[in-house]
Amino acid sequence: MTAALKNLFRPAAAPATTKFSAQVGGFPRTRMRRNRADEWTRRLVAEHRVSVDDLIWAVILVEGQGVREPIPSMPHICRLSPDVLLEEAKQAHGLGVPALAIFPAFGPEGKDATGSMCLNPHLGIYRAIRSLRRELPTMGVIADVALDPFTDHAHDGVLRDGVIVNDDTIDIMCKQAHLLADAGCDMIAPSDMMDGRIGALRDYLDDQGYENVRLLSYAAKYASGFYGPYRDALKNKGLLKGDKKTYQMDPANTDEAMREVALDVQEGADLVMVKPGMPYLDIIHRIKTSFGVPVVAFQVSGEYAMLRAATEAGWLDYPRCLMESLTCFKRAGADAIVTYAAIDAARILVKASGI
Ligand code: PBG
Repeated sequence: MTAALKNLFRPAAAPATTKFSAQVGGFPRTRMRRNRADEWTRRLVAEHRVSVDDLIWAVILVEGQGVREPIPSMPHICRLSPDVLLEEAKQAHGLGVPALAIFPAFGPEGKDATGSMCLNPHLGIYRAIRSLRRELPTMGVIADVALDPFTDHAHDGVLRDGVIVNDDTIDIMCKQAHLLADAGCDMIAPSDMMDGRIGALRDYLDDQGYENVRLLSYAAKYASGFYGPYRDALKNKGLLKGDKKTYQMDPANTDEAMREVALDVQEGADLVMVKPGMPYLDIIHRIKTSFGVPVVAFQVSGEYAMLRAATEAGWLDYPRCLMESLTCFKRAGADAIVTYAAIDAARILVKASGI
């Protein structure tokens, strides 16, 4: 009889006389540490893994040429002009990153209460998308629809008498989405949290012949303090009047996220987003297990800033904590992750694979 079989036929453990009732003959049979003992077993039993296939590179765009402006609250991240973005996108593409998500930043000139400048087809965002489409036809291009880069109050919608007006905002977003799709955007991401916008955008895009443009809905988007550095990145610091609590979700709520996702899926969302990421892993998990739809996590500006700032203080190891945070998104159930650190992560993954 082999040792393993003998183990099976051992008499049941005598009534526990010590506090280690799992022990027989004084030794644990099940030693969880065996599988952890070597790198090769750890690799075999790993349940979740991040790959470059999971990454969406978040990038901040500015007008101009040859511009690379550092963003103080997001160390190592710069606002890029369309030409510089194209060069960096080529690098990301070369590393295997499937897609990028572009967020445009503007100075105060041209901003108004309705964000009307978003309908100017000559903006850098539309030019950048055109050139990416032309030069990198196999890289996915994602862009938000929302008004906050374009409004003088930094809200995501039309502000009238102190109220964000839902349906008027959707009308403008549909036109914005049309311009994005015309420029060649493959996936449109409404990040505004207006009610009914997924259905409205789907119908509008279909009517315009863009039935293959995908909708990535920011379905569970919370009114979060973790977006702080993003306001800085968008040059919107100090601009926001009040807060976004009348349209973004209360961080205390979970069931509400389920209702948001149910509506968005029913209205035609192809993928749903949870944002922010790391403090909301339970939401990612519950959406994934309840709906089985593609779920995207957004590792937002504040999460990135925390990792970088603590690293600069000498308190965290950036590559290690970055990869750990991305793995945790996968473990929670995310299919893909939007992150400002996508190129860093891709470099780490490519290096680890030894290719
Ligand atoms: C708003 C928008 C925000 C972000 C992406 N789109 C900010 C907000 O909702 O206030 C945040 C991204 C980040 O913090 O990285 N349309």
